[in-house]
Amino acid sequence: MTPTAAKGGELSLDIDAVPSMRTPPPGPRSRELLERMRASFYPGLTAGLAPFVVARKRGWAVEDVDGNVYLDLISGSASVPLGAGRDDLIEPAVEMLRRYGNEDSHGLASELMAPLAERLLAIAPPSLTRVDIALNGTEAIEIALKLMRRATGRQLVIAFFGSYHGESTMTATLGAERQDISSGLRQLSPGFVHVPYPNPYRSPFGDPRPGGSGDATIDDLRDHVLFHALDPRDVAGVVIEPIIGSGGVQIPPDGFWPALVELCREHGWLLCADEVKSGMGRTGTMFAVEHWGVEPDLMCLGKGIGGGVMPLGAVLGSERAMGGYDDVPTGSTWAWLPAACAAALATLDAFEHEPVLENVRALDARARETLGRLPERYPVVGDVRIKGCYMAVEFVADRETKQRAPELQEAVADECLRRGLLADSSTATYNLQPSLVMPVAALDRAVAILEQAIEAVLAREPAR
Ligand SMILES: Cc1ncc(COP(=O)(O)O)c(C=O)c1O
Repeated sequence: MTPTAAKGGELSLDIDAVPSMRTPPPGPRSRELLERMRASFYPGLTAGLAPFVVARKRGWAVEDVDGNVYLDLISGSASVPLGAGRDDLIEPAVEMLRRYGNEDSHGLASELMAPLAERLLAIAPPSLTRVDIALNGTEAIEIALKLMRRATGRQLVIAFFGSYHGESTMTATLGAERQDISSGLRQLSPGFVHVPYPNPYRSPFGDPRPGGSGDATIDDLRDHVLFHALDPRDVAGVVIEPIIGSGGVQIPPDGFWPALVELCREHGWLLCADEVKSGMGRTGTMFAVEHWGVEPDLMCLGKGIGGGVMPLGAVLGSERAMGGYDDVPTGSTWAWLPAACAAALATLDAFEHEPVLENVRALDARARETLGRLPERYPVVGDVRIKGCYMAVEFVADRETKQRAPELQEAVADECLRRGLLADSSTATYNLQPSLVMPVAALDRAVAILEQAIEAVLAREPAR
């Protein structure tokens, strides 16, 4: 069956055309398709679906099969960095599909592989000199874990509360965003030690102690975890989101980074940055580690590097992490599909020739003025955190106790959706992830809708 609703002219990106709602979602066609899906799909999939079915996308507009047009601040879970439907990214991929179809790039190399690896290394921190290929972010993390363990001969890996690394058995257990993601799996995939992330809004620690590392999280690791429980000689390294994304845009304080780098150096631990979501410009620099000048031993990429056109993942490594052995099998058949390499090369061209990062910084500045004032206006907004096009609103039942307010967040997200704003409410915060090229005026529209939604919910609950 071919899609029916995507008719008429091209989807308009005019500021008054996005969003535009014809019916409250789900409209009749969406309802029918979702009911059919509920009858035939795994219920865990259908339970998480938005209440509409997508017909087509362009830029930051998503049209459903009932003709509703939404303003998209999810951006394919940050996998569509430059807006949807860009011919300059799609055409090179289509050409390579015609020329190659797929080839298993672990056996037969395409002529796109060398240029893509070289261009990734050219924009990555100088510590990174080698590349391994992956299909997506999850696979990149799986590979990085194998390499860390092989390169050091040690098995334990330190990871952080609040972080998300994927949903395969190993990445789900490496992550610790919500306990249900790893439920039933931890005993199958041991070897991860979780410690608090340096989360300024919800830190379990006070200030760094006098004479300590300069950071309270690292003081705790040194004074408690490594003193009482963990022999550092058993630890291969640390995997960290440089800024936590899905878990609510948690931005470590500046003192954290030198203290972590020093701890790794002292014990010979490898530092692996998970830049699957924060990489490719999302936080205002090409990679989030650049905000602190950190040179990791490994860096995992995914999502945005395929330009929102094709799946692609990569692990970049230092000589120590990746250079000295060749006996760890990695990857899978579709990794670095030639068409995906072409989309990635075109995406890198766009970053090189267009003012993408400038626009991210303009959106960041505007968001600080608009989203940033929500805590003053609404006591239910406990915190707003912004780094480039990573934006999170944390709802609380009580400002003092910071008790989370998931029902309120859900109610606000529903009101936003009815008004045509799409953002991510699947986590403990309401996350807005605009396309990196979205105009500031569209962000203004999104924030105005969010404010209307909060007011609508508060009007229903006068006690707050
Ligand atoms: C930080 C981070 N790492 C890894 C992954 C896994 O990437 P993927 O789901 O594209 O395989 C994600 C996905 O959201 C992520 O946000």
